[in-house]
Amino acid sequence: MNFPIQIVETTPTETLWILETYNTAYAFSWNQQQRLENVYWGTKLRYPTDYLPQTLMYDPLGNWNFARNTYEEFPVWGDYKFNEPCLKVRFRDGVRAALLDYVSAETTGDETVATLTIHLQDRHYPLNVRLIYEVFAKHDLIVRRAEVENRGSEPIEIEQILSAAWHLPQRDSYQLTSLSGKWGGEFQIQRVDLPRGKQLLERRRGSTGFDSNPYFALAADSTVSETSGEVWFGALAFSGNYKIVIERDAFEHVYVTGGIHDFDFRWQLEAGETFQTPAFIGGFTNGGYGEASRLLHQYENEHVVPRATATQPRPVVYNSWYVTEFDVSFENQEKAAELAAKMGVELFVMDDGWFGQRNNDRAGLGDWTVNRDKFPNGLAPLINRVNELGMEFGIWVEPEMVNPDSDLYRAHPDWVYHFANRPLSLGRNQLVLNVSNPDVQQFILNFMDDLLGNNKIKFIKWDMNRHFSEPGWADAPQGRERELWVRHTRGVYDILRQLREKHPHVLFESCSGGGGRIDLGIMAYVEQFWMSDNTDPYDDLFIQEGFTLAHTPLTRMMWVTDTNWLNGRSYSLDFRFHLAMMGVLGIGADLTKWSQADLDQAAAFITLYKEIRQTMQFGALYRLRSPRETPLSAFQFIHPSQQEAVVAVFLSQSQFGYFSTNLRLEGLEPDALYRVEGWDVPWSGQALMQRGLPIALKGAFVSRLIRLARE
Ligand code: DGJ
Repeated sequence: MNFPIQIVETTPTETLWILETYNTAYAFSWNQQQRLENVYWGTKLRYPTDYLPQTLMYDPLGNWNFARNTYEEFPVWGDYKFNEPCLKVRFRDGVRAALLDYVSAETTGDETVATLTIHLQDRHYPLNVRLIYEVFAKHDLIVRRAEVENRGSEPIEIEQILSAAWHLPQRDSYQLTSLSGKWGGEFQIQRVDLPRGKQLLERRRGSTGFDSNPYFALAADSTVSETSGEVWFGALAFSGNYKIVIERDAFEHVYVTGGIHDFDFRWQLEAGETFQTPAFIGGFTNGGYGEASRLLHQYENEHVVPRATATQPRPVVYNSWYVTEFDVSFENQEKAAELAAKMGVELFVMDDGWFGQRNNDRAGLGDWTVNRDKFPNGLAPLINRVNELGMEFGIWVEPEMVNPDSDLYRAHPDWVYHFANRPLSLGRNQLVLNVSNPDVQQFILNFMDDLLGNNKIKFIKWDMNRHFSEPGWADAPQGRERELWVRHTRGVYDILRQLREKHPHVLFESCSGGGGRIDLGIMAYVEQFWMSDNTDPYDDLFIQEGFTLAHTPLTRMMWVTDTNWLNGRSYSLDFRFHLAMMGVLGIGADLTKWSQADLDQAAAFITLYKEIRQTMQFGALYRLRSPRETPLSAFQFIHPSQQEAVVAVFLSQSQFGYFSTNLRLEGLEPDALYRVEGWDVPWSGQALMQRGLPIALKGAFVSRLIRLARE
C-alpha cells in the first residue's frame, strides 16, 4: 500500500485530493467555482483520472432551481446555497457570513494513519479554518474534524460548528439505519427508506443517551444485508449535545453533516483562540452492515479505547447492585465476595450506597466520604478481604451529580445548573453539577484522586443518571454561558484523562442509568460500557445487536442476574451466561440463594469464558442471525489469530417441534479445516460457510455455545 493521500494538480487553479484506503477512495477538489467540493466516496477506482470531475451532459438545475446545494466539504453559511452549514459565525461588525478560500494543504503520518490538513482562510476576516482528514487505510475509515482559529484582535461568535459534511453518490434510493431506544431498551435498530428532506438524529439533554446514539448507516438500497451491499456509515466521537443531519434533496443528493448541536449553543472565539470540533468518523464498505461494524470495531480496538489497556483482557466482574441496592455493608459484600471468588470472579465491584447518607436515591449524592454506619472502619477492611480472596476491588461513583439533601449541595447550592427565578427540576431526586465550572472540576478531581490514592481500587464505575434541565450558569464569564453544553463534556473528559494519568492501573466503566452515555468520544477514556440496566437476556439479544452496530464487544459489559425484574422472566443459567459472555462477562446475582449445583455450573462457565475471552472480547463479530427476524438468533466471534471461532445460538421458542437450520458461518478460511467441538471429523471453512452448521433446538429460551478450532 502506498501513502494513502495523493494530491493531483489538475490545472494551475484546481487541485484534487484522493484519499485511498485498502478498499475505498474519497476524493475532493478545490475547483473553478472556488469551492472545496467532494467528487467521490465509495469503492476504490482503477486510475487517478477516474476521480476527476466530469462536465455534466445536462443541466440538472432547470430554470428555477437557482442555486443548487453544493457538495462542499465544509459548507459555511451566508451565501447563495442552502445546505445544512458546518459553520455559521458572526463577526464583530455584524456580518454573519463566512467565505472561505483555499490557502494550502499538508500531509503527515504514514500508511497506518495518514493525515491531510487543508488550510482555508476567510476572504476578508481573520478567520482561519483547518479541515483535518485522518485516513485509516486498513479500516477503510476517514476521521474528520475541523479547527477554527481567530487570527484577529476581536472576538468572533460561533453560532454553529459541525465536524464535517459527508456526501454520498447519487443512487435511486437509500435506507437509513439509526439507533434509538429508551431506558431498559437501548440501541434498538431503526431502518427506514430515506425520504426527501432532513432526518435529524440529535441529543439536547447534555449527554448522549438512550433515545439517540450518534451513529448512522446509509445503505444504497433495501437489499443490502449483513453480508453484502454498499453501506456508508459514521459515528461522532462526542458525548454531549449533538446533531447529525441526513438530507436528501430533489436531485438525489444525499449528505450527512454532524457535530456539536447548535441548539442553545454559542461560542465566543477570542483573539488568538482555536476551537476544535470532535471527530466524525466515516466509512464505506461493499460488505454490508456486518463489515461496516467490524471496521468500526477494529478501529475502536486499535485506535480509540485507552491505549495503555487496549490489549489487556477485561476481568470477570461481580456487582451486587441488584441484590443489595443501597443497603451495602461489610458483611453482605464480604459474603458475596467469598462466593464470587470461588466461582472465579476477578474483580469485585461495590455499587451505589457506600458513602454519605446514601440509604436511598434521595440523599447523599455528592458526599464522597465513606458511610461509617455501613463501614465503621472505612473501605480498607473490605478491600483487603476482597484482595485476600484473590480479586481486585472496584467501586461506583456518580461525580457529576448531587442530591439536594447532601452536605455538598448545602455548601454549594450555586454549583448546580439553574436559572434564577425558576424552580429546579429533579431527576431521580438529583441535580446536575455544573462541570463547566472549573471549581466543580477541581472538586471532582480532588475527591476522585483521594479515593484512588487512599484505597487499593482497580476499577471505577462512573455513573450519570439524569439529563440536564434549567441549564443556567450564573457566574459564567460574560457571554459564555451557552458554552456549557461543550464545556461540561470536555470537563468530564479532562477529569478522566487526568485521573488516568495519575492512576494508570485503574480501569473505568461508563454507565448512565444503563447504556446512556455510550459513544466514541467517551470510549477514549473508559475500558467499558454498562450496556443496559435491563439484564433480561432475551431483551439483551436485541440491545446487543444494536450496540454492536457501532461499538466493539470489547467495551460491552453485561451481568448474569436472577429472575429479571423488568419482564419477570426466568432463564436457565446457560442462556444467561451465553448472552453475558458475548463481550465482557459479569455476575450480578444473589449468590447466597444459589444451589451448590448452580454455583458449580457458574464456575464452569467462568472457566470456559476465560478460555475463550480473547475471542469474545477481541475477536471479529459476525451477526449471523438477527433476533428481530426469527426466534433463532446467532452471533459468531473469530479470534484475531483466526485459530478459534465461537458461535452463540439462542432460541427464544420453538413451535411445532424442533427449530432446525443450517447456520452458515462467516469469515472462516475456506481451505482450512475446523474441528467443531464434539465432531469426529473436521469440516473445511468452505463447508461451514456453504453447508452451514446443523442446528436443531427446541423449547423456550435455549441456547448453545459452539467452539470451533482451526487445525
Ligand atoms: C444506574 C446504573 O445503571 C445501575 O447499574 C446502578 O449502578 C445504579 N445506577 C446505582 O444507583
